[in-house]
Amino acid sequence: MTVASSKSGFLVLFVFCLSVPTDSWGNIEKHTALFVFGDSLFDPGNNNYINTTASFQANYWPYGESYFNPPTGRFSNGRLIPDFIAEYARLPLIPPYLEPGNNEFAYGANFASVGAGALIDTRAGFVVDLQTQLRYLGELENNYRKNLGDTEARQLLSSAVYLFSCGANDYGTFVDNNLSIYHLFTDEQYTDMVIGNLTNVIKGIYAKGGRKFGFLTVPLSGCSPGVRIGQPGYICHKGIDDIARIHNQKLAITLEHLEKQLEGLMYAKCDISTAITNRMNNPSKYGFKDGETACCGSGPFRGKNSCGGKRGTTEYELCDNATEFLFFDSAHPSEQASQQIAEMFWKGDSKVTAPYNLQALFS
Ligand SMILES: *[C@@H]1O[C@H](CO)[C@@H](O)[C@H](O)[C@H]1NC(C)=O
Ligand SMILES: *[C@@H]1O[C@H](CO)[C@@H](O)[C@H](O)[C@H]1NC(C)=O
Ligand SMILES: *[C@@H]1O[C@H](CO)[C@@H](O)[C@H](O)[C@H]1NC(C)=O
Ligand SMILES: *[C@@H]1O[C@H](CO)[C@@H](O)[C@H](O)[C@H]1NC(C)=O
Repeated sequence: MTVASSKSGFLVLFVFCLSVPTDSWGNIEKHTALFVFGDSLFDPGNNNYINTTASFQANYWPYGESYFNPPTGRFSNGRLIPDFIAEYARLPLIPPYLEPGNNEFAYGANFASVGAGALIDTRAGFVVDLQTQLRYLGELENNYRKNLGDTEARQLLSSAVYLFSCGANDYGTFVDNNLSIYHLFTDEQYTDMVIGNLTNVIKGIYAKGGRKFGFLTVPLSGCSPGVRIGQPGYICHKGIDDIARIHNQKLAITLEHLEKQLEGLMYAKCDISTAITNRMNNPSKYGFKDGETACCGSGPFRGKNSCGGKRGTTEYELCDNATEFLFFDSAHPSEQASQQIAEMFWKGDSKVTAPYNLQALFS
């Protein structure tokens, strides 16, 4: 109070900036929180804090080179889709839930984990699976209750937006197919299990008050550098694309069904699969010089997952300008590509993001 009446604008600003992270409850205008679930397209560094291998971590150069110094663990040269969504929603970067420190998570939390799928069996032991991600939201809910009281905590959770990027790892286990139970089931059975487990997590969030959701479809990764390098003649892998298409059809039907079943549920589904395929087929239309080679890696298409030199292969190539590439490493989009997709997710029309876009869910 005494500070606010000071004549020094600089001092007021300075103290305000300091006060936001330490005492944000009640002192800031009401905001919509953002909670993030899923895989490497969304993980801001949770895997730095679990017992896993370098295959599932990216907290070393040149990851982050265009934006973060030191690298954070994001599988990109810079920001990821949720980072841009947070910016568009006028929120700060949403921190990884597992990052140590006294974080209040006043603006939300990011639970996503590189390598995770919807099934606990996917890369079991190396990732934070989706059910554990939901359990962490439950922990946070208890903290919010303690700090804010029941009514405010419920309000925070029910007005929040919940983002998902989930499924790609259940299908495309590039690193080791034996870290999946895929081969034990038919495609129909397996996609039902993936969607069934995702649905349970959506219902778990709904039970905590969550009403507003955003989903990415599963990208068609059959022609990505990391998949092609393992194929005879480097042809695209049709099987991975086929099962991703089945998943995306079932996801659409399931979400329509949930919208009717769960009163008040609203969602934005963004078609990242078509967006990435369009950019691979016609990179220059979207400002890329290259839509099939990774910026960072080794071998044909730089498709060997060696970016950063810590995954068994020490030598790798790095392009001069990651902005010109659709893929930063063998399996992940560049910051530029993530920004384009985030814009589609935020304000795209119903051809790309439906039935709502995220801007509508945040307003
Ligand atoms: C981490 O995993 C390795 C190998 O999987 C194991 O040997 C080690 O004991 C684990 N460390 C902890 C702290 O769990
Ligand atoms: C994967 O698992 C199958 C069946 O358990 C086994 O036959 C195969 O050798 C394994 N492959 C690798 C690469 O470990
Ligand atoms: C979730 O996945 C497990 C395999 O991990 C499967 O046994 C179970 O049936 C799935 N649940 C649903 C609702 O599909
Ligand atoms: C990188 O490429 C982008 C897109 O072509 C271009 O706008 C930018 O100026 C380039 N940056 C450098 C440092 O050359």
